[in-house]
Amino acid sequence: MESTKHISVMQNEAIEFLNLKKGMTVVDATLGGGGYTREIYKSIMPGGTLITCDRDIDAINRFKKDFEVIANNIHIVHSNYSHIRKILKDANIDFVDAIVADLGLSSDQIEKTDRGFSFSDVGLLDMRMNQSADISAYDIVNDSSEEELAQIIFMYGDEKFARRIASAICKERPIQDTNVLTEVIVSVIPHRVQQRSKIHPATRTFQAIRIAVNDEFEHLKVFLTEGIEVLQKSGRFSIVSFHSGEDRIVKNIFRTNARGCICAPEMPVCRCEHVPQVRVLTKKPLVTSEEEIRDNPRSRSARLRVVEKI
Ligand SMILES: C[S@@+](CC[C@H](N)C(=O)[O-])C[C@H]1O[C@@H](n2cnc3c(N)ncnc32)[C@H](O)[C@@H]1O
Repeated sequence: MESTKHISVMQNEAIEFLNLKKGMTVVDATLGGGGYTREIYKSIMPGGTLITCDRDIDAINRFKKDFEVIANNIHIVHSNYSHIRKILKDANIDFVDAIVADLGLSSDQIEKTDRGFSFSDVGLLDMRMNQSADISAYDIVNDSSEEELAQIIFMYGDEKFARRIASAICKERPIQDTNVLTEVIVSVIPHRVQQRSKIHPATRTFQAIRIAVNDEFEHLKVFLTEGIEVLQKSGRFSIVSFHSGEDRIVKNIFRTNARGCICAPEMPVCRCEHVPQVRVLTKKPLVTSEEEIRDNPRSRSARLRVVEKI
């Protein structure tokens, strides 16, 4: 297995916010190429406990092969971060001092054509982050109704040509390969729109299908909610997201947990008895520096949000 190609995004900012000290217990929920994990390791050892997880078995195997130190206070777990409670229970941990997640895909995943994530290569329609999951992009593209496809592309991709694209896909089915899907999408997006846009015309549709294949938004909601529950008092939770759909979920769940009453506005008296769980440390999300964008254009859309448990 090759070593990682991934360049970590907003690593210094996301980790600095965690206020790490020797001896802390920390979760890196998205191991990827291991950049964040290695940095956290240096900050909390000796004496700390590090739990790092990924739903992609390649990321786990690569890290186990390359990481110089394997000890019983490092837990490298092949799992979905939405199982954070089980991951901690299996490691005999009740609460943690910090959690970080750097969402989305690693360059290792994007650049491996057989994973089917990239619209610029010829690959099978796969897009599963967890290679043993039942549903792949092939199933979503070929088995969804036209209406379902249009909804997926619109909801998860913010794509205004979702209906046209869904209709064109249905006419072309069965579609096996990423390049055929790309051609179908490009063929129905007006030329003038393509010329004006800064992104490839297939970007939004590929993103939408990937989110549906991996049920990304539902896992993210569970992870954020349960992550806040397992944080110690003063513990910090940093999240780097890469598109507006993800960032909206992070912002809303962090804000809801920072509020007292969450009753509907029409309720005359509070019945929820909700108490604030966290303090939001980033009123507006932090964005990537120009220098980082110059060195790594993929970091362009990153947004960092952080809360502290109260
Ligand atoms: C952008 S990469 C992380 C890169 C990492 N921070 C680094 O510095 O190398 C995102 C990783 O999160 C993983 N991932 C995405 N969703 C996940 C989930 N629900 N549970 C666990 N891992 C997930 C992906 O498989 C991918 O390896």
